[in-house]
Amino acid sequence: MTTTYESICSTLPKSPKCWLITGVAGFIGSNLLETLLRLDQQVVGLDNFATGHQRNLDEVQSLVSPQQWARFQFINGDIRKLEDCRKACTGIDYVLHQAALGSVPRSLDDPITSNSTNIDGFLNMLVAARDAQVKSFTYAASSSTYGDHPGLPKVEDRIGKPLSPYAVTKYVNELYSDVFARNYNFQSIGLRYFNVFGRRQDPDGQYAAVIPKWASALIKGEQVYINGDGETSRDFCYVANAVQANILAATTTNPEAKNQVYNVAAGDQTSLNILFELLRENLQDYGVPSISKPLYRDFRSGDVRHSQASITKAQYLLGYAHTHRLADGIKDAMPWYAAMLGKF
Ligand SMILES: NC(=O)c1ccc[n+]([C@@H]2O[C@H](COP(=O)([O-])OP(=O)(O)OC[C@H]3O[C@@H](n4cnc5c(N)ncnc54)[C@H](O)[C@@H]3O)[C@@H](O)[C@H]2O)c1
Repeated sequence: MTTTYESICSTLPKSPKCWLITGVAGFIGSNLLETLLRLDQQVVGLDNFATGHQRNLDEVQSLVSPQQWARFQFINGDIRKLEDCRKACTGIDYVLHQAALGSVPRSLDDPITSNSTNIDGFLNMLVAARDAQVKSFTYAASSSTYGDHPGLPKVEDRIGKPLSPYAVTKYVNELYSDVFARNYNFQSIGLRYFNVFGRRQDPDGQYAAVIPKWASALIKGEQVYINGDGETSRDFCYVANAVQANILAATTTNPEAKNQVYNVAAGDQTSLNILFELLRENLQDYGVPSISKPLYRDFRSGDVRHSQASITKAQYLLGYAHTHRLADGIKDAMPWYAAMLGKF
């Protein structure tokens, strides 16, 4: 049976739309760009390279045809400047707002910059998109919004108190979206991503996410550290699933699906100890010894202990049908890390 996503992907090339991806030089943004260009869409991308890289754009260019690449226009700009947001929103059908400063520890080290990017920048984008009368506005929300709520699996309408400045910023995004719907009839959709991973996720720097950080350490023969006892769990979501959720949210014609937030995940729960084993197994072909062991250290502040999503709402209202579970995504992504780190 054809999924909703498959049928949208087959109709989009016949009537191309103009998409704006903010944070296009980042991990998720560049994966969105690759998929949309492969579907022959027109894409405008906005980024200030705060955490994104030109090499991500260069890689996408190498993966699509020259005709597809010619449909991409890049704006080097900052979402903290309203005029940059207005310029980027001009003539756009669908906005996929991904630009933000990610990472819980980064927000604990520098809450002011996280706040200005993730809240002021978000509000600028909402205003610019509203005024440009775009057809839809989809934004990157976060599973961190569940905060200290102990319930599992996480269900969209049951949240706790945020545990970090980052989580505050992402929750404020949801509040502003709701207020814009009530007061300006400007509908949007928030996607609460759960630990997205995949090709082009940055392995470098102190704020790198766990999968690229460990993959890189294992490939380079460096020590892997586990924060806590390793039984902390996450619902790791391969980037192809996040891309699918964005395209479904942007193009949905179901009125009930709008002005909502959705969990975007695989619906699984995996401990860090199991993740480590999986990465080590997958990286054996690249010379990673089967006896490598992680070192355990203190729990990290601001981290949620357990996380697992209910994906029923996205399945039901958006027709979301994830294509990759953790092991599928790891298998897909590891050759990329090995090649990037010169071990292919
Ligand atoms: N990766 C995850 O697991 C995850 C989980 C939950 C939510 N999110 C959210 O998804 C979005 C994308 O995350 P990612 O993992 O691709 O991170 P990323 O850091 O790779 O991408 C973010 C992009 O936004 C750009 N950016 C930052 N500040 C900007 C500014 N002021 N103006 C313009 N561009 C700016 C960065 O340069 C970067 O290219 C973010 O909003 C993040 O909070 C990600």
